[in-house]
Amino acid sequence: MSDKKQSNAMWGGRFASGPDAIMEAINASIDFDKRMAAQDIAGSNAHAQMLAKQGIITDKDAEAIREGLFTILSEIENGTFEYSAALEDIHMNVESRLKDLIGEPAGRLHTARSRNDQVATDFKLWTRGQLDAAIGGLTALIKALLDQAEAGADHVMPGFTHLQVAQPVTWGHHMMAYVEMFGRDRSRFIDARARMNESPLGAAALAGTGFNIDRHMTAEALGFARPSANSLDAVSDRDFALEFLSSSAICAMHLSRFAEELVIWSSAQFKFVTLSDRFSTGSSIMPQKKNPDAAELIRAKVGRITGSLVGLLMVMKGLPLAYSKDMQEDKEQVFDAADSLMLALAAMTGMVGDLVPNTDVLEKAAAMGFSTATDLADWLVRALGMPFRDAHHVTGALVKMAEDGGVDLPDLTLEQMRSVCADINESVFDVLGVHNSVASRTSYGGTAPDQVRAQIARWKTGIAS
Ligand code: ARG
Repeated sequence: MSDKKQSNAMWGGRFASGPDAIMEAINASIDFDKRMAAQDIAGSNAHAQMLAKQGIITDKDAEAIREGLFTILSEIENGTFEYSAALEDIHMNVESRLKDLIGEPAGRLHTARSRNDQVATDFKLWTRGQLDAAIGGLTALIKALLDQAEAGADHVMPGFTHLQVAQPVTWGHHMMAYVEMFGRDRSRFIDARARMNESPLGAAALAGTGFNIDRHMTAEALGFARPSANSLDAVSDRDFALEFLSSSAICAMHLSRFAEELVIWSSAQFKFVTLSDRFSTGSSIMPQKKNPDAAELIRAKVGRITGSLVGLLMVMKGLPLAYSKDMQEDKEQVFDAADSLMLALAAMTGMVGDLVPNTDVLEKAAAMGFSTATDLADWLVRALGMPFRDAHHVTGALVKMAEDGGVDLPDLTLEQMRSVCADINESVFDVLGVHNSVASRTSYGGTAPDQVRAQIARWKTGIAS
């Protein structure tokens, strides 16, 4: 990075000396905010065109600015742009280069604008792009889960509570549980996008400007729904970033739960699923190992994303209106969280696409742990008219009998069952199998394959539209 000492050309009129090296180090944000270069250039171009339309600068100057900004954008894309820490941030780096390129008209670009509305605009545009990326990433993940659910709508697996076998469920039903969660995450990003989509540009330093600007024009040019209605709020609001972070933290928490299940399921003890080699790694010392590293790293990402959320909340708390330099600390939190989230979403989508459920193991495991005990109790209620509490008691005694005998519930003989409850008949065996168990759970949202298929169909239409 070159160290041009012309920094004071931007604001140094009243300063006798340049900043101390430490001041420069704590003050400069260019190392990270250069990620907003494209947004800065788009914002400046929209502003310049508006200034020309309003007769505040000439069309000729606006055209020179437009061409200069275009050149800068290609320099940045080619990697030939020289960033300078002395010029603090992306805004002044771009403006300074514009002056090198086009001379005097560059100095007119900052008319009726401040870095305060400029940075708020750039950061909003950048964050809006990440909201779109998160929405797209979640759409892809949901589609991958729908494919898994459809292929495994009839596959039976154990459902757990307390990580103890509870009742049989279907693989499709379990996948669809995550579809619901990621669907809500997706709608949170969609909501946040609509709420944040107001343009700060033209709020100037904090109070608006006396120039006859057209904020509606710049808002429209930058894809905002409208200009923000209060200039103090426009330059000091960062709740759009916080909403991105909080939605990201919730989404990362969901990813983490699923990742944890994949870690457990892929272990030698469970063997519920086989993870693809593409998303696993080996051990440098233990040749037999295949580690679920991608799942583990996804499980961990919620830590840093939540850290970013809490970090920015703490930066913003107690800040008086309007802009304070503290707010420069907003970007790294959002950049890091966005990178982590997009990577985690992509990795999870890849893993889900490759995931192979081991259907035999799942089905055997579904029958273990007396998982159809509730079906037995329900049968006693339905077939024998027993009150549920009594049925619960009888079933408990039968579970104990099976446990003592080292067998599962369907392995008890009719005689053994009749020794507990004389009215039990042959047809009890119909409900003790795991397939019958899941097929019977036809209540809305239940695990029965037909219910699950109905939910898959609903989601497929919804996500396609
Ligand atoms: N780099 C600054 C930031 O990220 C830009 C805004 C600076 N504004 C100012 N008045 N010093 O917040």
